[in-house]
Amino acid sequence: MEQSPLLTTTLLLSLIVLISSANGHNITKILAKHPEFSTFNHYLTATHLAGEINRRRTITVLALDNSAMSALLDKHLSIYTLKNVLSLHVLVDYFGTKKLHQITDGSTLASSMFQATGAAVGTSGYVNITNLKGGKVGFGAEDNDGHFHSFYVKSVAELPYDVAVLQISHGISSADAEAPTPGPGDFNLTSIMAKQGCKAFADLLRASKALSTFDDNVGGGLTVFCPTDNVVNGFLPKYKNLTENQKVAVLLYHGIPVYESLQMLRSNNGVMNTLATEGSNKYDFTVQNDGEDVKLETKVVTATIVGTLIDQDPYVVYKIDKVLLPRELFKAEIAAPAESPKPAKKKNKKKATDSGDDADAPEADAPADEAADVKADDDNSAAGGLINKLFMVLSLFMGVLAL
Ligand SMILES: *[C@@H]1O[C@H](CO)[C@@H](O)[C@H](O)[C@H]1NC(C)=O
Ligand SMILES: *[C@@H]1O[C@H](CO)[C@@H](O)[C@H](O)[C@H]1NC(C)=O
Ligand SMILES: *[C@@H]1O[C@H](CO)[C@@H](O)[C@H](O)[C@H]1NC(C)=O
Ligand SMILES: *[C@@H]1O[C@H](CO)[C@@H](O)[C@H](O)[C@H]1NC(C)=O
Repeated sequence: MEQSPLLTTTLLLSLIVLISSANGHNITKILAKHPEFSTFNHYLTATHLAGEINRRRTITVLALDNSAMSALLDKHLSIYTLKNVLSLHVLVDYFGTKKLHQITDGSTLASSMFQATGAAVGTSGYVNITNLKGGKVGFGAEDNDGHFHSFYVKSVAELPYDVAVLQISHGISSADAEAPTPGPGDFNLTSIMAKQGCKAFADLLRASKALSTFDDNVGGGLTVFCPTDNVVNGFLPKYKNLTENQKVAVLLYHGIPVYESLQMLRSNNGVMNTLATEGSNKYDFTVQNDGEDVKLETKVVTATIVGTLIDQDPYVVYKIDKVLLPRELFKAEIAAPAESPKPAKKKNKKKATDSGDDADAPEADAPADEAADVKADDDNSAAGGLINKLFMVLSLFMGVLAL
């Protein structure tokens, strides 16, 4: 079989895709080369924004030098509020200097990470970028009354089209971003869940004495996994069948008494104790990353993190696609035998979502392109993207061989 031209092209394309996606960046490192931004850099780390910036693939950081930062710090904002203000200075799109000066119609609204936190009211998380007279570029809150106080100064670093770091003259002021932000003490777990698609789980918690255990852990570190409304509703008949103590244990099983960012979960695979763990009652599960996805394996079910409701160190709440069933209370449902036994396929590592709260079905053949579509809400890590692309390239390659 003579297939070399096509094959060569495919391999060449694969190589280009692989190289262009290997773009892990580290904002702390980039800024460390410029001591005039040391305060800004320090606060990106202190507010944990640095990790979020590194996780995103396309980002523009509007950096403030030490004197602009000291004007901002004079406002004596809490660290939680400062995080909101600084996140308004991180745009989730690429604006290199060139693009900045070529904005269509001279003005645009760019979405910032403040918008992405869910803390922004309405459109207050957008930054108005406007080309002004004399080549000046102004940056303002979306609602700026026609006045700009922050202007483009210079480009600090640009890695087209992934990361741009631009210096601006002054902090962008925004009443919404500067509004007092509740610290961990004011965090209301059940109302946040209820507002963001986990109302059924929030209702179970509210009616249970398990809630006080969650509340007690908020200040010292808490990670919560809330199953979506659909899967909780499907689980209710089983839940109602449990004793009071077992109900409490199942709910506590959805929390761990430490803060675990998505990045930490991806890199710290292994056994995790939960709020239900007590003496010989293990109630643990295994965290396992699968490309960019993070999976929680209880030996009865495997759930996948499908979104983040709130992430404000020391607490974080994730949405998951299944109820976590502890093996102490539930038996793994024996999967029906597959129609024909087949060897595990290495090329098509399965990434399809499992829905419902049943045990994992036998390995299915998910088409590669479909697999690449299924992702957690905010998974933008370069490493994960690389793995995704690797699978795509491999399947493409296999496809070519099959011709
Ligand atoms: C980023 O760079 C800083 C300073 O060089 C280093 O301390 C930090 O561990 C790096 N972060 C990552 C995620 O590599
Ligand atoms: C940005 O602000 C200026 C001044 O207030 C306004 O004229 C312009 O329409 C705004 N741009 C967008 C895209 O909203
Ligand atoms: C959380 O909000 C709910 C109503 O949304 C309220 O009933 C509950 O008391 C609040 N909990 C705390 C700890 O403030
Ligand atoms: C509830 O428990 C009974 C008795 O153990 C069992 O027969 C029944 O299948 C259970 N129902 C559900 C929905 O698990």
